[in-house]
Amino acid sequence: MITPTPAESSALAEGRARLAAGQGAALPFVNTAVPGRASAALVDLLARYECPAITARRVRRAGGQGGRARAGPGAAAGDPVVWAEALGANVLDVDGNLYVDMTAGFGVASAGHRHPAVVAAGQAQLGRLPHAMGDVFPDVTRIRLMERLAAETGLDRVIFGSSGSDAVEAAIKTAWVATGRRRVLAFSGGYHGLASAPLAALGYKVNAFAEPFRGMLGGHVDLAPFGGVWPELGAYAAVLVEPVQGRGGNRAPPSGWLSALHLAARAAGALMIHDEIQCGLGRTGAWLAADHEGVTPDLLALGKALGGGFPISACIGSARVMDAWGASTGEAIHTQTFLGNPVGAAMALASLEVLRPLTARAAEHGARLQTALRRVRGVRGVRGRGMMIGVEVADPLVSMQRLLERGYLVLPSGEGPDALGLTPPLTLSEAQADAFVEALAACL
Ligand SMILES: Cc1ncc(COP(=O)(O)O)c(C=O)c1O
Repeated sequence: MITPTPAESSALAEGRARLAAGQGAALPFVNTAVPGRASAALVDLLARYECPAITARRVRRAGGQGGRARAGPGAAAGDPVVWAEALGANVLDVDGNLYVDMTAGFGVASAGHRHPAVVAAGQAQLGRLPHAMGDVFPDVTRIRLMERLAAETGLDRVIFGSSGSDAVEAAIKTAWVATGRRRVLAFSGGYHGLASAPLAALGYKVNAFAEPFRGMLGGHVDLAPFGGVWPELGAYAAVLVEPVQGRGGNRAPPSGWLSALHLAARAAGALMIHDEIQCGLGRTGAWLAADHEGVTPDLLALGKALGGGFPISACIGSARVMDAWGASTGEAIHTQTFLGNPVGAAMALASLEVLRPLTARAAEHGARLQTALRRVRGVRGVRGRGMMIGVEVADPLVSMQRLLERGYLVLPSGEGPDALGLTPPLTLSEAQADAFVEALAACL
């Protein structure tokens, strides 16, 4: 049990007032070392209980269990700050420090954290029906969301999941069922989640993520260079691709590449799976990132921003491909307990409503931000599309820490990493964007 000191309690209360007053458009306010004392104490507690492979900590005390280093007390630069509250583009930590979230929480808060319409939809649904029975007794919200997703994507049928991994897994299984083929082509730098099926298709930091499981992941995936040449596709069930890559580098392929890949896949009878879990729903300045190339996949994976903070994902496919599963004869051969959870479905319906009109803003403000970033001394290159941006700098991890100390949350991006990854809320204000560019210039 951690009891905040009176000073910490009052700093947090002041932070809350500042967050509320800024309405999500506040500039940063950092009043402690980062992380502050309250964050550090909580991260110590976290390290006591969480599997050590999960949250990165810099401070280590030798001699932990099994000879592995264990987290010890006391904060150091590089340790995380603990979030207390968020609104719009702002995040408040437990020490009362206010940040501008240039990650939108892994791209989830595209509409801004805690968007009022999305929260209201979730709260109303919580008051009516927080859970139904997936494949046995559906609820009305889930049915409405399927109808809406079909209209939004030009596809026909939906399999819901709770995570991005779930959606990719459903897409790969569907491709296996629909084609009777086994092989999957994925790309260097590709990241599709860490459940077994998406992990097998990983093209990003493969040694770190997949090495412990080598030999257990099926061996059915080949990797080709993202944006480069691909092998003959006749043997493949599916080609799995992010139209704009996220974790692997916030990178768009050369113009025309995706549409040429589509033509080749179609000719070879391989299905196209688009993973738009990060790049979809307005983020790149088009509703779907593949719209930049005018192509529609056979199977589409959506997640992250879909639920506006509630974990819900969807694999959406053409009737031709999805109907290959055949009709359920009483035992659903692909489902899960929380399939199409009503709260997630209600929040997704509200999110889609809010995100659509933000697409044009992502294009316009993304272009403006990219132009400003290109002018910063020390920036080696700027890549990406819309509000999905990779900023190439000499030492991304050092810059990331300096930016955190100035009140900006960013992520490393690319294999090295070789860039800072920016996926801010599409609602980021011009003042926040300008202040970020200034802070970056000061950090470099
Ligand atoms: C493009 C892409 N696909 C899939 C995933 C996996 O999603 P989740 O972590 O929700 O399983 C991610 C997560 O970062 C992603 O960026």
